Amino acid sequence: MHIHIFDTPADAATALARRVADALAQRPAIVLGLPTGRTPVAMYAELRRLHAAGEADFSRAETFNLDEFAGVEPSHPGSFREYMETHLFRAVNLQRNRIHFLDGAAADLDAECRRYENEIEASGGIDLQVLGIGANGHIGFNEPGDTLIAVTHRVTLADTTRRDNAALFGGDPARVPREALSMGMGTILKAGALILVAMGERKAKCIERTINGPITTQLPASFLQLHRCADLYLDREAARLL
Ligand code: F6R
Repeated sequence: MHIHIFDTPADAATALARRVADALAQRPAIVLGLPTGRTPVAMYAELRRLHAAGEADFSRAETFNLDEFAGVEPSHPGSFREYMETHLFRAVNLQRNRIHFLDGAAADLDAECRRYENEIEASGGIDLQVLGIGANGHIGFNEPGDTLIAVTHRVTLADTTRRDNAALFGGDPARVPREALSMGMGTILKAGALILVAMGERKAKCIERTINGPITTQLPASFLQLHRCADLYLDREAARLL
């Protein structure tokens, strides 16, 4: 794994957005895998700025997001789809039919997971997957446990994850859905390149274990050690224990 440490979260976000813009320039029809969460907000702001400055052209790109809450309409203010509309999709020149998303409101959620996995396959696969990491080491919504599921699947969210996402549901963890849909660790590891971004002291411990610990289902991020092209973008706080 290649580790990049930046003085501030803003520096890390700027470098990451620049890396995505460079990838778009090199390969305009790139297939991007994208995360939500607090961490990538600054990266998306910088990507919007680069796009407005004519330095990031999404016209031929395709996107797949990592995950979505179950039982939530795409237009719900707490949905990851709405997050992406706000932070990126409405502000750049992505073609709507090249935006791929899990539909948490689908009638048959297992069929929805299979549809998504097939769609990723049909696109030729994800070229560059950007990832965040939960403080418990989750990736997408692949939570720590005795087993991991390789392909896109339904997930029961950990209580910590529901608390972490409460802001999207009026600050009340009880209103966060108990279930979600997520790419599997196998789906994620098939991407051509991975970039994991982590900021802040809260992530320091899981980052240290991701890099130095054993590969274990108890820390899904540790599976990144198996990837031949994985980069970590960290601020000083997240890198504190390295
Ligand atoms: C969301 C996702 C999650 C987040 C993780 C960290 O699409 O993939 O794994 O990356 O929960 O979230 P923040 O950035 O809010 O700490």
